Amino acid sequence: MSDAVKGLEQIDPVAFRNALGSFITGVTIVTTCDPEGNFVGLTANSFNSVSLEPPMVLWSLGLNSGSLPAFRQAPWWAVHVLASEQEVLSGRFAKRGIDKFAGLEVSLGPGGIPLIDGCAARFICRTAFEYEGGDHAIFVGAVTAFERAQRAPLAFHQGRYARVLEPAAAVAPYAADDTKFGRHFLGHYLGRAHYELFNDIRREYRKRGLRGTDYTILTVLGIDDDCTLETLVARAARGGVEVAPRAVEDLELRGLLRLTDGRVHLTATGRQMVIELIAVAQASQARIEDRLAPGEIAMLRQLIERLIDTAPLTAEAAG
Ligand SMILES: Cc1cc2nc3c(=O)[nH]c(=O)nc-3n(C[C@H](O)[C@H](O)[C@H](O)COP(=O)(O)O)c2cc1C
Repeated sequence: MSDAVKGLEQIDPVAFRNALGSFITGVTIVTTCDPEGNFVGLTANSFNSVSLEPPMVLWSLGLNSGSLPAFRQAPWWAVHVLASEQEVLSGRFAKRGIDKFAGLEVSLGPGGIPLIDGCAARFICRTAFEYEGGDHAIFVGAVTAFERAQRAPLAFHQGRYARVLEPAAAVAPYAADDTKFGRHFLGHYLGRAHYELFNDIRREYRKRGLRGTDYTILTVLGIDDDCTLETLVARAARGGVEVAPRAVEDLELRGLLRLTDGRVHLTATGRQMVIELIAVAQASQARIEDRLAPGEIAMLRQLIERLIDTAPLTAEAAG
């Protein structure tokens, strides 16, 4: 054993794994088929480029992987570089003992290997070499064909999925016309997003004869159904809504809330309406979540939280 390899015995495997996790990678699914034609595949982030001429790539496969015998025998395999919205697929192909291809539409590549669609890139390879690599087998493939799509890639960092943000310079600059409101005003742009995302909910409360202010009052009480009028007004103001005492009285007349000793409560009818509006909000939220990958939603939340946390944002509040 060389000194360099002996040194490894002192290395704490968990610390080593964590240090490796500092290296950001993409995420791939490598597929092949066994001699009986059964589809085989797994999630792998050990993929890397090797050579441009001739075109070659590599990845490593754990010796305890159930897929090892198939990859050792198969002449062909395909590396799918996953797109950001394919996180769920990555999770599926990282599980053992399940039918990873169940319900998945695939086309067939050379040797009958399964090819998955919707990826950021795909490389068809023929095994050129297999090397020993400790507890992994290293497969080097000669690339015979590849495809690339304009899709944002899925990333992996410190044991978690991540997303790649376009460098600011690569994002098309917005025409910042000083004489017009436009997308370059973040507050303006966020307001536009809020308006779009609220379409379903707005339609629903209007159908019930409510206005935006009424909806805000009900949602504040839906969170805390026993607050003073002052607290209610202050909480609504945090969302940018001015609540006039008249609006509270109107809702009381409609039997949706009750004002007793300066405190505001929902009535049974008011509570029922809040529950129905929450159901519409949840359905609307599910539709929004369908359009974004879980990581993108998390990223959006983080950015919005940072914007809120960096308050006071306004010159008035700062002064
Ligand atoms: C992001 C990510 C990257 C992974 N990279 C590799 C890898 O490069 N090589 C490997 O053998 N396993 C890797 N795995 C683990 C395999 O996907 C996992 O062990 C899988 O269950 C193996 O399936 P099999 O036993 O059916 O072959 C990775 C898992 C995840 C979530």
